[in-house]
Amino acid sequence: MNEKKLVGEKAAEFIKDGMVVGLGTGSTVYYTIIKLGQLVKEGLTIQGIPTSVRTEELAKKVGIPLVSFKEIGQIDVAIDGADEVDSNLDLIKGGGGALLREKIIANAAKQFIVVATPNKMVKKLGGFQLPVEVVPFGAELTEKHISKLGIDPIFRQFEGNPYRTDNGNYIFDCDISGILQPKELEEKLNMIPGVVENGLFINMSDIVISLDHEKNVVLINKR
Ligand code: A5P
Repeated sequence: MNEKKLVGEKAAEFIKDGMVVGLGTGSTVYYTIIKLGQLVKEGLTIQGIPTSVRTEELAKKVGIPLVSFKEIGQIDVAIDGADEVDSNLDLIKGGGGALLREKIIANAAKQFIVVATPNKMVKKLGGFQLPVEVVPFGAELTEKHISKLGIDPIFRQFEGNPYRTDNGNYIFDCDISGILQPKELEEKLNMIPGVVENGLFINMSDIVISLDHEKNVVLINKR
C-alpha cells in the first residue's frame, strides 16, 4: 500500500470549483497534484499557485492552470507535505529546500492542509534537522549568528556544490533537538540579518491528513 498516495489523494477532496490552490512540494503532495490534474481533466475548474519550480513543472504537465500573485485576491486552500508534525500540528518543513515559497503560500491561504504519512508524526519537533535559508552574501557570518543560538548549522551541499534554492539562496540544516521553544527559535532565527526564512511552521496548519494504525486515512484538526 502506498501511504503517500493515500494521504495525498485524500487532500484533493477538499478542493472545489473556483478555488485558488497553493500547490506544495515533495513526494507526498505529488499525489495530490496528480489527482487534481485528473479532476481538472474531468471538469474541475481551479487555479494553482506553485511553491517551487519542480511543482510548477509538474502542475503544467498534468494540466492544472496556474496563476501568479498579481492575478489573485487570495489563496483558498494550500496543500503541502511536512518533514515533521507534532501534536500541536506545528511543522518542520524544507527538507526539499522549498520552505520559503511554501511558507509564503501557506501563510496567504485561508486554509492550510498538511499531508503527512505516520512516520512524520512526532511528539516533539527536532528529530529532523531544521532547514534555514540564508542569502549567499555574508553566509559565513550568518552561520556564526545561527550557532550562537545553540544550534549547529550544517551547510547543505548538492553533488559536491553548495545547494541553491529556487530563490538562489543557501540552506543550513540545523540540529534543534535540544530546543524547547520552537516558536521563540523561529522568531530569533528570522531576526538574524541574512536569514531569509526557516522551516518551522508554527500555528499555521489547519488540518493534517495522515493514517491510523490500521492504515485508515484520518483527519487531525487543530484543537
Ligand atoms: C519541501 O521543501 C518540504 O518542505 C516538503 O514539503 C517536505 O520535505 C515533505 O516532503 P515529502 O512529502 O517528500 O516527504
